[in-house]
Amino acid sequence: METRVIHVDALEELRAIYREAADLLEDGQLVAIPTETVYGLGADAFNAEAVARIFEVKQRPAFDPLICHMARREDVHELCEVPEALLELVTLMAAELWPGPLTMVLPKKPCVPDIVTSGLDTVAVRVSAHDVMRGVARVLGRPIAAPSANMFGNISPTSANAVKSELDGLIPMILDAGACSDGIESTIVAPCIDAKGEPALHLLREGPVSREQLRKYARVIRPKKISARAAAMAAASSSAPASEATPRPLAPGQLASHYAPHKPFHLCAPRSVFEPVEGVRYGLVSYQGDSLLSMQGCWANIKVLSPGNGRLTEAAIRLFAFMRAMDEDDEIDVIIAEELPDTGIGCAMMDRLRRAAVPRG
Ligand code: TXA
Ligand code: MG
Repeated sequence: METRVIHVDALEELRAIYREAADLLEDGQLVAIPTETVYGLGADAFNAEAVARIFEVKQRPAFDPLICHMARREDVHELCEVPEALLELVTLMAAELWPGPLTMVLPKKPCVPDIVTSGLDTVAVRVSAHDVMRGVARVLGRPIAAPSANMFGNISPTSANAVKSELDGLIPMILDAGACSDGIESTIVAPCIDAKGEPALHLLREGPVSREQLRKYARVIRPKKISARAAAMAAASSSAPASEATPRPLAPGQLASHYAPHKPFHLCAPRSVFEPVEGVRYGLVSYQGDSLLSMQGCWANIKVLSPGNGRLTEAAIRLFAFMRAMDEDDEIDVIIAEELPDTGIGCAMMDRLRRAAVPRG
């Protein structure tokens, strides 16, 4: 199959491009579509066969559910049965945080195919801040199920080029709207009722919407660390109702090893002294480029996420692109990443880096 890359920059052609992408989706095919976080691999969410293609193309295990991207925040009521007790919280968050990098996991309506949710009775939904994702969903007239447009377990793509290096020849179209503006996958929360009967938010994945921001809406319950084995076992067993005691989901997004480069990858503290192994070529992903770690003479290549004062949002935009570049660099055997400040979007980046550092398999 030939993969066509369509540049989405000429305003007057937008309608035609959205139509072309929507026609492919209507036909049950897959299209890579930009969002503000990472590029998504989209299918018509109501076409179970098309959604099955996503799992096939990505080699994604069937127990890992997908996010549905909606054109409008009101569409949440088409896909989800929002419990009365959570309606106020969900409506407020939707009004203030959508369109944007927040995914909410809510009880699903029967119109959502089971394959989208991997058999769970909840569905993950979001309204992307990217015009192109919303535009295609609007023209299609249905939500778009889209995981990140990478092979399962790999680094998420933040540019059309990165999608091409993952999926070239496997899908008919990539919509290229340049680099993603957030650069890290959406924050995922499951609104729930806590032990005291109050609305609360299970934080299932850290992302651009920080814990501090979420606390404005409700108490934030952080997930317990889940081992890969426990997640796989839980995914294989039937689903229990969401509650504070049994947070869901247990899906690969929460697996220990994920978002990983192919080369060995390790995290190091910025003030640590690195001891290289003779003959091994190391690449460093540094935060500001002026740490004790980055000053050592052993690096074959250094990439700096946010030179100078260090801005975490700038670092987030570059993180996956730099990890990918190091992974593809023939002059490097092992990738070292400097630990980042664990605040704001830094929490989401550290979450991804820790998972990337866990050996695959
Ligand atoms: O920013 C993003 O979220 C990107 C863009 C394309 O929207 N998408 C993305 O999708 O990162 P994906 O499939 O790579 O990660 C979505 C994660 C899954 O790993 C799964 O853990 C979680 O969302 N998820 C999906 N449906 C769920 C459900 N019903 N319950 C719990 N978790 C769910
Ligand atoms: Mg992914």
